[in-house]
Amino acid sequence: MSVDLSTSLGSLHLKAPTLTASGCAAAGRELAQFGDVATLGAVVTKSIMLQPRSGRATPRMAETPSGMLNSIGLQGPGVEAFIEKDLSWLSQNGVTTVVSIAGETTAEFAELAARLSNVPGIAALEVNISCPNVESRGQVFACDPYAAADVIAAVRREWTSDAPVLAKLSPDVTDIVSIAHSVREAGVDGVSMINTLLGMVIDVDRMKPLLGGRTGGLSGPAIRPVAVRAVYQVHAALPDLPILGMGGIRTGHDALEFFAAGASAVSIGTVVFGDPRAPWRVAEELSSELASRGYSAVRDVIGLAHR
Ligand code: SIN
Repeated sequence: MSVDLSTSLGSLHLKAPTLTASGCAAAGRELAQFGDVATLGAVVTKSIMLQPRSGRATPRMAETPSGMLNSIGLQGPGVEAFIEKDLSWLSQNGVTTVVSIAGETTAEFAELAARLSNVPGIAALEVNISCPNVESRGQVFACDPYAAADVIAAVRREWTSDAPVLAKLSPDVTDIVSIAHSVREAGVDGVSMINTLLGMVIDVDRMKPLLGGRTGGLSGPAIRPVAVRAVYQVHAALPDLPILGMGGIRTGHDALEFFAAGASAVSIGTVVFGDPRAPWRVAEELSSELASRGYSAVRDVIGLAHR
């Protein structure tokens, strides 16, 4: 039985249901040795900032039960080098590209949106609001509905492209639905969820936090039930808001949970470090999971767990 795996995130048509997750496949080039990156739903790039950035102190990663903790600190080349080297490579290779942006102030997000607006080859913008707001005692934008909405409204004012704008939501909140409402009011076309959960590992030989940055983002299968719950809650409250679901997806079976919860597409993240072919493999497995249940299109199962 052939299964139609095409889907969409608002106005963005996707030929495949699996995308990479921001931060897990750089700008896609490293994955090219493992498969044709142009056949993925999209590459979601590592969040880019205005200026080059060296990131946080080492160590930056720690293994945890069924997951990992990272504290990279948004290392990156800055937007100009990104446009010149990474985005041009992605365009030349016909890759559907979702550009993730991050800033320390609302004005920085706005400036990034303005700079990228007229750059060809961007299929969607993912606004990574899981960063500390330096103008508000380091409070993470995504944890405050007003700060999250301010960033989205500022990006929206500067974003002149027709490509959709997604807000990437953090699970480190009491009520993720209220944040989704807030960014929707501010003008997003969809949400990506979830980002990592804030965590810490203590090195008991040194009696200090293991990571150089002390805290880090927890990802991997350990967070999958949290992610599925968050997708389910947001889809229940805002059924018309497109969701790019992510959080610990390792298999087609895992991906199917996200579609049933209400995601329209999924990003494959941490598993890529151990299995770089995972974004393609998960799509193939999803096809088999759907066929074995008698579904002929992935679109037919979006939100089915809400019946
Ligand atoms: C990082 O570079 O530290 C990760 C950023 C994020 O999780 O959004």
